[in-house]
Amino acid sequence: MTDIFDRAYGKYGVGAFNVFNAEQIHGVFRGASDSRLPIIVQITPVSRSYMNPKFLEGMITAAELVYESVDFSLHLDHGNVEHCRSAIESGFYNSVMIDSSREDFEKNISITSEIVKRAHDSNVAVEAELGILGGKEDDINMGSDSARYTDPDQAVEFVNRTCCDSLAVAVGTSHGAYKFKGESGLSFDVLKRIQSLLPRFPLVLHGASAVRGDEISRINNAGGKLKADAKGITNEDLLNAVRCGVTKINIATDMRLLWTRVQREFFRNSPELFDPVLPGKTYMDELANFVRRRCQSLVLSEP
Ligand code: 13P
Repeated sequence: MTDIFDRAYGKYGVGAFNVFNAEQIHGVFRGASDSRLPIIVQITPVSRSYMNPKFLEGMITAAELVYESVDFSLHLDHGNVEHCRSAIESGFYNSVMIDSSREDFEKNISITSEIVKRAHDSNVAVEAELGILGGKEDDINMGSDSARYTDPDQAVEFVNRTCCDSLAVAVGTSHGAYKFKGESGLSFDVLKRIQSLLPRFPLVLHGASAVRGDEISRINNAGGKLKADAKGITNEDLLNAVRCGVTKINIATDMRLLWTRVQREFFRNSPELFDPVLPGKTYMDELANFVRRRCQSLVLSEP
């Protein structure tokens, strides 16, 4: 993970894609192979309990054989202490995220430091979080009132005291399909200040899905009821974030929207069919295209 960050910093954002099943693993690895760029494959605690860790590990191992050219790192997204310990002990993960961002500053430091020590002893990297992101992801639901930007001065102290390898920052994004109200967007002032205090330190942007309007319309035209204020982050903002030190770009919602659109259109267009293989194949193809385009669109200069 740290090697991928070193190569990418200031040149391109590394797409970090959350996977929950075989179709997503195929689509993500195929897209990465076509893009010829490194990726991060993310597994959340919900995906571990949905699929069973052994199933996930088997599928990732198979993907590694099938898509042997792919340069990837396997990451646990949004773990608590137990999830991180179990992922580190499994020997399967290159990095873990310890998410104790809702604790107070000192408690966040002490929990993160304990995980960093364990992880580094096993050659596993650690992403930590400071500040609070709004929105909903898996079983975490934070109202926008609870969201809090990362304090740049605290970020320096946090990184120095915990020795974490990357830092997830709260700078205006949120998880899910409803990210911004009105004209609100990313706070580049906060991001620039963090970068100036932590030069070359890899920052992580959670909540980085684009939530494209055409996907929302297609879902709704095929029977969905997503709300009109669904909104994500623009590519221009992502590139500006990369210029400000963001090296890892987390994406889950766009993959779910794509899945929803493919399934809804398939069953609307062929109500007489009942075959998981056909929409499954379309989803893998479209996801591979999405991942390739997404990775390539995050490049500032040739890697
Ligand atoms: P999105 O909801 O914008 O896809 O963000 C996903 C994420 O940050 C995973 O940790």
